[in-house]
Amino acid sequence: MLQLDLKGKTALVTGASGQLGRAIARTLAACGADVIVHYFHNEAQAQKVAEDIRALGRRSMTVQADFAREETVFAMRDKVAPFGLPDILVNNAVSQYRWTTLLEQDTADYLDQFRSCVMQNVLMAKAFAPHMVEQGYGRIVAVNTECAIECAPTQSAYAAAKRGQDGVLRCLARELGPSGVTVNQVAPGWTISERERENGLDPMAHYLPLVPLGRRGTDQDIANAVAFLCSDLAAFITGAFLPVCGGKVMTSI
Ligand SMILES: NC(=O)c1ccc[n+]([C@@H]2O[C@H](COP(=O)([O-])OP(=O)(O)OC[C@H]3O[C@@H](n4cnc5c(N)ncnc54)[C@H](OP(=O)(O)O)[C@@H]3O)[C@@H](O)[C@H]2O)c1
Repeated sequence: MLQLDLKGKTALVTGASGQLGRAIARTLAACGADVIVHYFHNEAQAQKVAEDIRALGRRSMTVQADFAREETVFAMRDKVAPFGLPDILVNNAVSQYRWTTLLEQDTADYLDQFRSCVMQNVLMAKAFAPHMVEQGYGRIVAVNTECAIECAPTQSAYAAAKRGQDGVLRCLARELGPSGVTVNQVAPGWTISERERENGLDPMAHYLPLVPLGRRGTDQDIANAVAFLCSDLAAFITGAFLPVCGGKVMTSI
């Protein structure tokens, strides 16, 4: 039987205090990985996720960093080194901003999204990829979005930053491939996670007819795709952009 077996691997999930990040962190642990739980402000939630991971019999620690402050990313690397530098990176964190038209959007929001999406991936690679190259093995999975393909009104700062992320990671996949490091992206649609389960599901009337598979994705759907790309079953996949949105967007060939 084929299995997603991550035993013996250490993963670092950014934004693991957030909605999708916590599901990704728990799922990698359920596959056998030890997991480093990154957070920005919500230390209490990060601690809860780390406890969930320990309850699965895996090792875990929490670590803070702000992707707008380069030095905090390298400090994070120094902090996790005694635990074990990661074999797997999941670059999932994102900073929040107001969705509005380009003419209404503050220019600062573009810079903030650029730091959150582009620079997060640049800094995480600079801090952690050298170890992967040295050991001749690594998995980098970044979380993108269907919005990067759709480029809908009110999403210009987010879509531009996620498209910038895509450019960085396609180059990185080519640069790190010869060293045995794969670099891929998972692009969720509008996803049901713990917050919505607790607060009540959105009626989704406008969205469902656009989804060929007829439902919204869940945090577990996204975590499953990430876990697959982290596993040896995906050893020959790099540079991929994998929409996980029930077919709502499809990448061109
Ligand atoms: N949810 C969806 O429907 C959906 C759809 C498509 C794509 N996505 C993508 O999925 C990923 C996760 O989204 P989500 O909905 O789970 O987000 P979320 O719940 O808002 O969580 C965001 C995470 O990022 C962290 N963060 C925020 N600003 C940061 C900064 N400056 N430096 C470092 N970390 C920072 C937060 O930390 P603290 O909470 O500790 O402050 C939190 O852990 C994102 O890449 C997003 O673009 C989500």
